[in-house]
Amino acid sequence: MINKGFNQAFLDEVLQKNDIVSVISKYITLTRRGQNYWACCPFHMEKTPSMSIKEDGQFFKCFGCGEGGNVINFIRKIEDVDFVKAVEILAKNAGMKMPEYEDTEEMRKKKEHRDRILSVLKATSEYYISNLNKVEANTHIEYIRKRGLSDEMLTKFKIGASIDFYGLIKHLRSLGFKDTEMIDSGVASRGDSGLLYDFYGGRLIFPIINGLGEVVGFSGRDLSNDPQRAKYKNTPQTLVFNKSQLIYGYHFLRELKKQKMLDTIVLVEGQMDVIACHQAGVNTAIGVMGTALTTNHARDLRYLCNDIIVCLDGDKAGEGATYKALEILKQAGMNVKVVRLTKAKDPDEYIKKFGKDAFLEELFNAGDYMEFILLDLAKKYDINNRADRNKYINEAIEYLSRLSTGYEQEIYLPVLKEIVKVPIETLRNSLSGAREEYSKVDDKEDIELKSNAYESIAKICILASLLYGKTTQILNYEDLFDENDEYRQVFTYILDKLSNNQDINVSTIYSCFDIEKDSVWDKVINYQFPNDDVFYNYLKDCEYRLRINKFNNAKQKIKSQLSITMNIDEKYECLARLKILDDQIAKMKEEMK
Ligand code: UTP
Ligand code: MN
Repeated sequence: MINKGFNQAFLDEVLQKNDIVSVISKYITLTRRGQNYWACCPFHMEKTPSMSIKEDGQFFKCFGCGEGGNVINFIRKIEDVDFVKAVEILAKNAGMKMPEYEDTEEMRKKKEHRDRILSVLKATSEYYISNLNKVEANTHIEYIRKRGLSDEMLTKFKIGASIDFYGLIKHLRSLGFKDTEMIDSGVASRGDSGLLYDFYGGRLIFPIINGLGEVVGFSGRDLSNDPQRAKYKNTPQTLVFNKSQLIYGYHFLRELKKQKMLDTIVLVEGQMDVIACHQAGVNTAIGVMGTALTTNHARDLRYLCNDIIVCLDGDKAGEGATYKALEILKQAGMNVKVVRLTKAKDPDEYIKKFGKDAFLEELFNAGDYMEFILLDLAKKYDINNRADRNKYINEAIEYLSRLSTGYEQEIYLPVLKEIVKVPIETLRNSLSGAREEYSKVDDKEDIELKSNAYESIAKICILASLLYGKTTQILNYEDLFDENDEYRQVFTYILDKLSNNQDINVSTIYSCFDIEKDSVWDKVINYQFPNDDVFYNYLKDCEYRLRINKFNNAKQKIKSQLSITMNIDEKYECLARLKILDDQIAKMKEEMK
């Protein structure tokens, strides 16, 4: 059994004080159906809910991706933290004090290192902010004013200034940080001379903050307008900074979600655009930082909200990357709309030129993503040329078949017809051809059924019945679990609890064992019982078949012994034992009738 250094009573209290339904509903939207709550699983892409949350058992299970567990497992996954951190979050949530816990040396070291790096980053961010008050920050202040950033936004986004190359290093040393810690956190670099210098020397600083509100890195804007220098310099990959997983402004979305004030996300490109949007009152604006949108990003957004408006820079629309981003968001199950700013380079410039009301109007009039793709794609082709038109139709049909349901496709066919002036029936025919091709690729191979599948199913049914108190005759089953395997482990746990008259609590089980997807524990806990009217017969049948199996295996052994032994007495004994087994089987069969 494991409880990772925590005392079991403490863990139980954490579980008790963090009702799974209220914790999960802070992250995703739950719907009550019958006894359980349901939600679209935040751990994989899906459009219809397949995650169930059981209030009485205090655990969740996704029937799509298999993820499941108690409230601690949920926090681990969704916050992407380790067990200890998850317990800490929940304990804090319940106003409980964390006990001292024993960690492995390695885990302790790693955690300490991470904490040190986060401290370096925090101190660095504070230092950059304090620089804004110094005279050396004149250029920065001038730049900030020129770009029209309000004081409110400076504070909200923790904007700061690096005013030289050595001030930061000196400051961090005075706080007791080591050179290696500065390098590991990405704020300092070692020059050819061997001296450490500020990695963002002289730049305007935008801290990058993770979902938990921790500063994990920086993006520094060059103010010199020198084309030789990179416009933005970002933290390299570190223990805590991974550009392809971070979303600029994400922690604000989480706050809004908690306050139930998040309805539509607005995706823009670049931190200046995010800030400009917030300044214009669009405080659900977020951005990825100079990387393509990944399925990780999409999943993180989908956790929080169903609706997203993708606001494309005027010059960048129509690129493959844009379609890809739309496709990723769509496949994450989001409702995707598109705004294409044609009158300005990006949202920041648009707002400057036309004001915030005009920008809000653009967002309000955001168009359907598929219409955008169909129209945009058409620009690449000369629709009046027959060969070109066919190429366009093929490409358009491919998007349609991949990205939309049959119902949606019916909506888009008229749009496509308008563009190409080909009868709808023709388009519909090519679409259904494409759809078949697509589903062929998508079809998974049938899961190969193992020969002992039945035995496994029967054992799981029995264990689940014991776990959920559908039967109390535990000793009756003991001989069916006589091998030293996972089934036996589960059986022993239940037996132990029942014989000590203790209640069995599913959410506690999750903190006692590392329960993998599709493991025996996972299957037992999430067993779907048949209706009561057939269930008891089914349970009896499971027991019956397992016993018959056992008898048959025993018979098999005796038969092979019989075939090799030369000793006549032994032969007689084997035959006698076979007879006894046959009698027992006959008796069982009789009972089952
Ligand atoms: P843009 O070139 O669109 O910059 O790059 P921007 O946001 O409009 O910046 P301003 O208005 O000129 O200040 C979009 C994003 O790509 C990343 C940054 O995150 C930027 O916000 N980028 C850009 C870099 O990482 N490095 C660069 O040199 C340029
Ligand atoms: Mn810009």
